[in-house]
Amino acid sequence: MPQAIETMLLEERRYPPPEPFAAQANAQPDIYERDPDEFWETEGRGRVSWFQSFDRLYEWEPPYARWYLGGKLNVCFNCVDRHVEAGRGDKVAFLWEGEPAGEREEITFGDLLERVVRFANGLKSVGVKKGTPVGIYMGMVPELPVAMLACARLGAPHTVVFGGFSAESLSDRLNDMGCEVLITQDEGWRRGARVPLKRNADEALAASPGVRHSVVLRRTGGDVAMAEGRDIWWHDLVGRVQGSGPETCPCEPMDAEDLLYLLYTSGTTAKPKGIVHTTAGYLVGVATTHHYIFDIKPDSVYWCAADIGWVTGHSYIVYGPLCNGTTGVIYEGTPDYPDKDRWWEIIERYKVDVLYTAPTAIRAHMKWGPEYAQKHDLSSLRLLGSVGEPINPEAWMWYREHIGAGKTPVVDTWWQTETGMILITPLPGVTTLKPGSATRPFPGIDAAVLNEAGEEVGPGGGGYLVLRRPWPAMLRGIYNAPERYVETYWSKYGDAYFAGDGARIDEDGDYWLLGRVDDVMNVSGHRISTIEVESALVDHPKVAESAVCGRSDPQTGQAIVAYVTLKGSDPGSVEMMEELRAHVGRKIGAIAKPANVVFTPELPKTRSGKIMRRLLRDVAEHRPLGDTTTLADPTVVEELETRANTEQTEE
Ligand code: PRX
Repeated sequence: MPQAIETMLLEERRYPPPEPFAAQANAQPDIYERDPDEFWETEGRGRVSWFQSFDRLYEWEPPYARWYLGGKLNVCFNCVDRHVEAGRGDKVAFLWEGEPAGEREEITFGDLLERVVRFANGLKSVGVKKGTPVGIYMGMVPELPVAMLACARLGAPHTVVFGGFSAESLSDRLNDMGCEVLITQDEGWRRGARVPLKRNADEALAASPGVRHSVVLRRTGGDVAMAEGRDIWWHDLVGRVQGSGPETCPCEPMDAEDLLYLLYTSGTTAKPKGIVHTTAGYLVGVATTHHYIFDIKPDSVYWCAADIGWVTGHSYIVYGPLCNGTTGVIYEGTPDYPDKDRWWEIIERYKVDVLYTAPTAIRAHMKWGPEYAQKHDLSSLRLLGSVGEPINPEAWMWYREHIGAGKTPVVDTWWQTETGMILITPLPGVTTLKPGSATRPFPGIDAAVLNEAGEEVGPGGGGYLVLRRPWPAMLRGIYNAPERYVETYWSKYGDAYFAGDGARIDEDGDYWLLGRVDDVMNVSGHRISTIEVESALVDHPKVAESAVCGRSDPQTGQAIVAYVTLKGSDPGSVEMMEELRAHVGRKIGAIAKPANVVFTPELPKTRSGKIMRRLLRDVAEHRPLGDTTTLADPTVVEELETRANTEQTEE
């Protein structure tokens, strides 16, 4: 964090919007003068189609907001049907690129409608109807958005579980939401290897008895076991419904505040939180931000390179872009397969004009070198975006220089699973950019930085980022955990939403995000709780105790360091480290595997027995140690420092 403050103070580069870009931009400077209520009212009326118009913009009873009250609509209708009805059925919705060479699909809005209708009817035939919770565990295949949209069409809330999560993580989520159906696939492709999604799903379903059926897409054609009476192939399900003429399936009229989906994210306890997103406010929020921030034009070819399993993919691959009728790219695999120029080849092939990705990916490309991008014609790009963690100015500069030909604006967008939509961001035709700063609250958003006492800090000050007014796509709570909702976001400042991030405002009023202030780590732009990893470690029969923290990592932003005390004075070994990493992978998923494991006979604790994570972070960062006088046994940390210098490291 001190490094980020220094960055803010020293960073003097300024990039005003290029004149021609500013002239044609969707957002013009006067957008900041609009009254928030007028702004969201106008966007609400103009950007989505209603079966029944709303009669009240919002209701705010802290900590719960409701938006577009009285309105009735369907998200799938907005994302698919209405574009076809308006004569744009031939426009491409998705350019899909499989990981294996040459596998491509061009899916028009007309095709998408047909596929969604057929699948929605298939889901109906296994009993899915309005209100049935559905789990989705898939890779980046076109059928993933088809499945989400089919659920939205029927009014069945979904939870998408990222394909990199383990069986246990999957079953926890299915059980928490009470899912009755799971949609999955045989296997996924990742860097040329097969990801055993169906096998993981089988393991998960053994612990999720509420799931009656699983629908299985054949993707790789790999051998999978199908449970009689429970598992159904996707192609058999959609093949069942046959009649004469084109198939139809009406869009369920949904209330503005009906549940659209849950997305689970890590908090400061071992149990992930089911973040609740509802229908109208979410759709208006993601479509509006997508339009202005990414300056989307009717002929844009937009590529958000996130995974649909994370909120970025929900909001800015599926719902926002489709609501705006945008052509989007979906790529199934990794950026380095078969070679490190795969992304640039894709951009050249489809003439992508807007690219949205994460700092961790940018840093990976930086490490591989600009020569991979130079092999391709990237001149179609006119705007770049970043999300997921603070972007360091070197990465920002590299991105603009080597991918954006030294001239495209770069929008660094701050938001969260909870916020549903981007909240702090430049507007590419208006904002003067500073490498490393997310700049300003989006129009209609009331953000502030408060100190510990709840006072607003002025220019130059630092503190905690809060939101003071509700916004359309904000979470409507944590599923089945109203107390945790209040405790996590509203107990610090009463009626301001506490995001859990530190921030500073510079002399010009621009925001600089400083990272999490709680026990949540950010690894490659993904949130992982220290306690979640600790619980996974302690679950291993040989582990007595563990403490986990993040340390900075040049590639992944943060890397996970685990301090572990084994039972029976076992000193630990390289094999044991591998075993523990694999164990965490099985419990949570590969993204949560610690990069370093430091075995220690004891952890530094206060006299009341609290683990001193601050000290562990200092040790992990090789920083001088702060005050150790509150420790029960100060010699423990000296010992730890010695061990940390000889720690077991990944690879
Ligand atoms: O710490 C912030 C960081 O990512 C957290 C949200 O993570 P998640 O819910 O997984 O959503 C990630 C994608 C929206 C935030 O609390 N974060 C996200 N974007 C930025 C960021 N930190 C700094 N700058 C950003 N642009």
